[in-house]
Amino acid sequence: MENEDILNKEEIEGDLKLDTSIRPERIDEYIGQEDVKENIKVFIESAKKRDEVLDHVLLYGPPGLGKTTLASIIANELGSNIKTASGPSIEKSGDLAAILSSLEPGDVLFIDEIHRMPRFIEEILYPAMEDFTLDIIIGAETNTRSIKIDLPPFTLVGATTRAGDLTAPLRDRFGITCKMQYYTKEELSLIIKRTARVLETGISNEAAEDLASRSRGTPRIANRLFKRVRDFAIVDNKIEIDKEICDKALKRLKVDQYGLDGTDHELLLAIINKFNGGPVGIEAIASAIGEEVTTIEDVYEPYLMQNGLLKRTSRGRVATPKAYEVLQINYQKSVFEEM
Ligand SMILES: Nc1ncnc2c1ncn2[C@@H]1O[C@H](COP(=O)(O)OP(=O)(O)OP(=O)(O)O)[C@@H](O)[C@H]1O
Ligand SMILES: [Mg+2]
Repeated sequence: MENEDILNKEEIEGDLKLDTSIRPERIDEYIGQEDVKENIKVFIESAKKRDEVLDHVLLYGPPGLGKTTLASIIANELGSNIKTASGPSIEKSGDLAAILSSLEPGDVLFIDEIHRMPRFIEEILYPAMEDFTLDIIIGAETNTRSIKIDLPPFTLVGATTRAGDLTAPLRDRFGITCKMQYYTKEELSLIIKRTARVLETGISNEAAEDLASRSRGTPRIANRLFKRVRDFAIVDNKIEIDKEICDKALKRLKVDQYGLDGTDHELLLAIINKFNGGPVGIEAIASAIGEEVTTIEDVYEPYLMQNGLLKRTSRGRVATPKAYEVLQINYQKSVFEEM
């Protein structure tokens, strides 16, 4: 396995099957995101007491932090069915109209990557979210009329990696907005132990903590690393995953002790070696390492910034002294810093 794969969204089929069992189903099994969880619990309980649907929820944050999982937990806790769609797959207004008109009272409609929905389709959502109505235009050219269809009350749960890309009118129609945070090492360690339990594999505390600290704050990566390390343990006939087998596997997978992967390294190295440590514009970095600007902004930067390896300044991105230390490169003050 290429180490870049660790960040990939797509699960291979076998992994997907495992995932359904390691994915928590109730809010109390959902580890971390304490603020989000506590608030959601209150809103769900209140909606139930009022006998009304939960207000629309927007979940945003980097990939793999548990947005999809939380959406289905919300449906479970409400005792509702969930229907799922994804922004890019809704291409025509008819696609969305079909989804909306299939909703039953109280349903949760989950739209993943909602920022990738075309603007003209978004506009169909406004009245649906606000008044539970669907306005459709029938006829053609000069002979069109608009008809209103009542929809049952439902809860829209939208997930996005970039809240900034949502148009203001759409963003404003979500009554509840939750920002997902990177997980702490302790939380990831609990997630790994939970996954180990579900998959009936033993793991030492030390090994769980080691994996946790190399998981980039992200449960999806933690679970993926766990599964790969387990492969090494199985092949070596180990009954339990220990620190030794972790080290061996992670070395083979080229995951460093900070959880940085090949692309993280490339990105920091490009800033340091090609652009004197920065400041440098994101477009220049993107073309230097052959990644999309949006991927860098959504996937790589947030974690590097959170960990103090990368700084965003008005003149561009700068590698911090800590980045040099992690990459074991001598730090030379950038000429810009002295200005
Ligand atoms: N809080 C959590 N507790 C336990 N496991 C979790 C938690 N959050 C996520 N996971 C696990 O991590 C995996 C990834 O979560 P999920 O698919 O919900 O992420 P996501 O935020 O929707 O990612 P993306 O933005 O890429 O769609 C899931 O398989 C789930 O089992
Ligand atoms: Mg998801």
